[in-house]
Amino acid sequence: MTELTHPLATVPRDELVARAEADPLRPRFHFVSPAGWLNDPNGVSQWNGTYHLFYQYNPEGAFHHRIQWGHATSTDLVTWTDQPVALEPSAGPDAEGCWSGVLVNDGGTPTLVYSGRFDGRELPCVAVGSPDLLSWTKDPGNPVIAAPPVGVDITAYRDHCVWREGAMWRQLVGSGIRGRGGTAFLYESPDLRRWDYIGPLFIGDASHGDPADNDWTGTMWECVDLFRAGQGSLGSAPPDGSPDVLVFSAWDDGDTHHPLYWTGRYAGDTFEPAALHRLDYGGRFFYAPQSFQDESGRRVMFGWMQEGRSDAAMVEAGWSGVMSLPRIVTPADDGSLRFAPVPEIKTLRRDHAGLPGQVLTGASGPLELGLSGTQLDLELDLHLTPGARLRLGVLGSANGRPSGSPNEETVIELCRAADTGNDGTLRLDRTRSSLDPTVDVEDKSGPVPMPEGRVHLRVILDRSAVEIFANGIALTARVYPTLGGDHVTLAADGTARIVALDAWTMAEIHEGTRPLFP
Ligand code: FRU
Repeated sequence: MTELTHPLATVPRDELVARAEADPLRPRFHFVSPAGWLNDPNGVSQWNGTYHLFYQYNPEGAFHHRIQWGHATSTDLVTWTDQPVALEPSAGPDAEGCWSGVLVNDGGTPTLVYSGRFDGRELPCVAVGSPDLLSWTKDPGNPVIAAPPVGVDITAYRDHCVWREGAMWRQLVGSGIRGRGGTAFLYESPDLRRWDYIGPLFIGDASHGDPADNDWTGTMWECVDLFRAGQGSLGSAPPDGSPDVLVFSAWDDGDTHHPLYWTGRYAGDTFEPAALHRLDYGGRFFYAPQSFQDESGRRVMFGWMQEGRSDAAMVEAGWSGVMSLPRIVTPADDGSLRFAPVPEIKTLRRDHAGLPGQVLTGASGPLELGLSGTQLDLELDLHLTPGARLRLGVLGSANGRPSGSPNEETVIELCRAADTGNDGTLRLDRTRSSLDPTVDVEDKSGPVPMPEGRVHLRVILDRSAVEIFANGIALTARVYPTLGGDHVTLAADGTARIVALDAWTMAEIHEGTRPLFP
């Protein structure tokens, strides 16, 4: 073990876990690191039935430094067993950190392709695993690609998407071309060690739109992830016309903007884009997503739910970063994607409350749900008349408090356009979510198709973590209430019909104290 070295390592190592566990805002059924810092999901996979989740980890404290690969395994995508750290920086090309990467099956040998950080830049490295995927040996030939493509002025160069195509391996490395935009460089290899550079798969246009736009594509693409959404595999003709998808996280000069995806067709050595989409309306709160196809054929995606509190508050708390629940990705009829938490999550449901079908109008006043909590799974089938607005309040503290006293509430809002069309909006209103003036409470919203006013709304709340799915469109964010409120209320402007409402409290997934170094 290394000594405390970083100036931000102010919390003694033996106190970190206790600090983290004492934080009421720490999620209880989302995966979090034992303590310290967590960012991107890495090497997400299923191997001989067991799910593997690796993650960017700094056990030294809740800040980003000298990143290792944490590791956890699961048989159900719900509960996770901590495993020993898989990769740790060592003298050589990853001396400053083992940054993001993927796991591939190299003829039966588990193999990691990751970004080794050294001298302030990253290069592709490889490590092979024992049959149980618990111990890893770095390739003596690292870095396996010695430098970014020559003659290209790049903004950054890191993260990997690797797949098998015929007799060859193919790899994308995320990057950006200065003065142009984000990109993914395409390589080919017979053995994961010797790589030939082919060219940029596709280049974005950073001059298009404004950096403040929620679909600006950035000056660099982090964590590119190329997959076929639907039937067939990359490089083959899709039997059902389903799209290929290029996911990336738009980055610019140290700022993590948001995950986006292009739908289109990957063929030969290029990607022909059809349309650009926002992957999650929470933007940077669902960052650096990575996906895999599980043994039952489902496309499963994890994302990093960043914090919305200050660096100092994270360090004090002893932990930072939440892994999203695994979500299933499916193609929709309009050519875009839909998302839903894996059904396995339902096994955590405990106490149930429901409401009979009823009509809610502005005159009905807010409706109290017969269930309260800070760990909840809510499922609503709704019908909104044109112009109607439904407000679902969670983590509310107003009830029972003297009127006029400060209160908090996080509000999920669904709005149907005033005409009789299918347009609607999903919004997360965090303006009253916290009395702490230092936390991020920016509005998050985006369009949601509402056929004839119908909406299926799923809200998963886990202390400071909120994941919302409205007709399969995702909005993920973090909230930091200070009053400990746990009320759930429903209100409407105009007329909204509750067709069905079910709510459950959710059980915890971590039992007992977790060691910092499992
Ligand atoms: C994305 C990212 C990756 C990088 C890793 C470092 O959040 O910046 O580009 O590999 O995190 O931890």
